[in-house]
Amino acid sequence: MNPKQNLLWWQRGVIYQIYPRSFKDTTGNGVGDLQGVIEKLDYLNDGSPGLTTGGTEASLGVDAIWLSPIFPSPMADFGYDVADYCDVEPLFGDLATFDQLVAEAHRRGIKIIIDYVPNHSSDQHPWFIESRSSRDNPKRDWYIWRDPRPDGSPPNNWGSYFGGPAWTLDEATGQYYLHQFVKEQPELNWRNPEVRAAMMDVLRFWLERGVDGFRVDVVGLLIKDAELRDNPPNLDADPNLPPNDLAGRQLQVYNQDQDEVHEIIRAFRRLLDEYEDRCGIGEIWFELPRWVKYYGENDDGLHLPFNFRLLRQPWQAQAMRRSVDELEAALPAFAWPNYVLGSHDSPRLASRFGGQAQARLAAMMLLTLRGTPTLYYGDELGMENGVIPPEKIQDPQGVNLGAERTRDVCRTPMQWDEGPDAGFSAVEPWLPVSADYATRNVAVQSADPTSMLNLYRRLLWYRRRSPALYGGDYQPLDAGDADVFVYLRTAGDERRLIALNFTADHRRISVPGEDTGQIVISTHLDREERVSLSDLELRPHEGVIVEL
Ligand code: NOJ
Repeated sequence: MNPKQNLLWWQRGVIYQIYPRSFKDTTGNGVGDLQGVIEKLDYLNDGSPGLTTGGTEASLGVDAIWLSPIFPSPMADFGYDVADYCDVEPLFGDLATFDQLVAEAHRRGIKIIIDYVPNHSSDQHPWFIESRSSRDNPKRDWYIWRDPRPDGSPPNNWGSYFGGPAWTLDEATGQYYLHQFVKEQPELNWRNPEVRAAMMDVLRFWLERGVDGFRVDVVGLLIKDAELRDNPPNLDADPNLPPNDLAGRQLQVYNQDQDEVHEIIRAFRRLLDEYEDRCGIGEIWFELPRWVKYYGENDDGLHLPFNFRLLRQPWQAQAMRRSVDELEAALPAFAWPNYVLGSHDSPRLASRFGGQAQARLAAMMLLTLRGTPTLYYGDELGMENGVIPPEKIQDPQGVNLGAERTRDVCRTPMQWDEGPDAGFSAVEPWLPVSADYATRNVAVQSADPTSMLNLYRRLLWYRRRSPALYGGDYQPLDAGDADVFVYLRTAGDERRLIALNFTADHRRISVPGEDTGQIVISTHLDREERVSLSDLELRPHEGVIVEL
């Protein structure tokens, strides 16, 4: 029996992130919606019986979807400004559509993870409207209000991640409120027990509706320094930062990652543990020693603090290996690793890593490392950064900090087919469809046996049936060429070798102690053959999975 058979769904599975505004519009308003997600579930995993855990290879084969925020929102930060934590934004549908989505997903064996945005609400949330109405309103202390300094300036020097100071003066009551993103995202005061109780009720509301997990937005920001001290300057800051990027010029010492946050995370975890088989994921960008603490001391923290480290590496085999090995070394025995290569906050991976060939190799790496992979919608097509004309920039980060910082580039509509607007919508979409949509889309790539989409399908379905890949051990190997990242994945008798050539040249490797093996997938999707492992040639940008 394979010792790893008892893995939970969030350990053996693959998560697929959907940015709901950009996935599929069924109402004809240019913005994606929940009905659109329902219509495309079979694309993600049709769940039909037959293969190991349901589904057929005609579908992608993911196990869970994470939906970026779907709650009522004025959209100052496209849903990350929540005006009601317990309802659905009318643009996206309603609670009945959400319930239908959960049921339809579950019928196919797909889990549903939703975004939970506890650090800040919208300034249109009734709690904030009350809070700002007067200094003695009972909800005043639900947000973080402070008097101006004697000269009238903000209470401390903190900058907003979206430019400018992190404080806005409320003229009517004469105090500043804190917001580390746009001023329409006032920060909740998690030191107030009433806020904690109300926000725990939000989790309960969605757990009762059947969601399988939460991705907790900027969870490390929930608690700030009790004295709100000034952040020190960042002496290494890029001198070319835009003048209003105050946060970029500071070391983020007092505004985030305070030890007391772990007490709140433990409370989240206790709540999740009251339900069966639920999962807590956190958005945490801190350096490894601080980041790892978010798993908790004794398996009492988040199940998966998102690991974005690979996404920040240069395109070099040794840099990737170092990042993986450091992670493996830092994890406590109970902790399960995970890897993210794309999200709604980062440039598209095909653009970031240099092109389609690199993106194919990255796909193989992501889906064969030890730990839960998270895919970002459209990366399975090799979607590249969209070109957004300056007058069409929507993202507040791009509006405030300059066009080159806009995250709109990775939020363009999903490319379904060669029809108008890529089959995403019947009207002009909220962001322009990428120019390459006529050739880079689901329909065209489904018909091309060696497309990126078919590579993802092959990798996902192979992984699904391979205990070594979804649950086995990881061991890096030196195989004679430092530009090729080589590792073994093993579970019981099953042994899989992965070799990834990070260069644009032909390379030869020699795997110690191995004679021959069977290539089952090449990133080029054009060879399945028995090969010598003492002298294995890899073509430019080629990666292979070899059965030993
Ligand atoms: C992180 C989210 O991923 C990002 O999109 C958002 O702008 C900020 N948190 C603020 O909620």
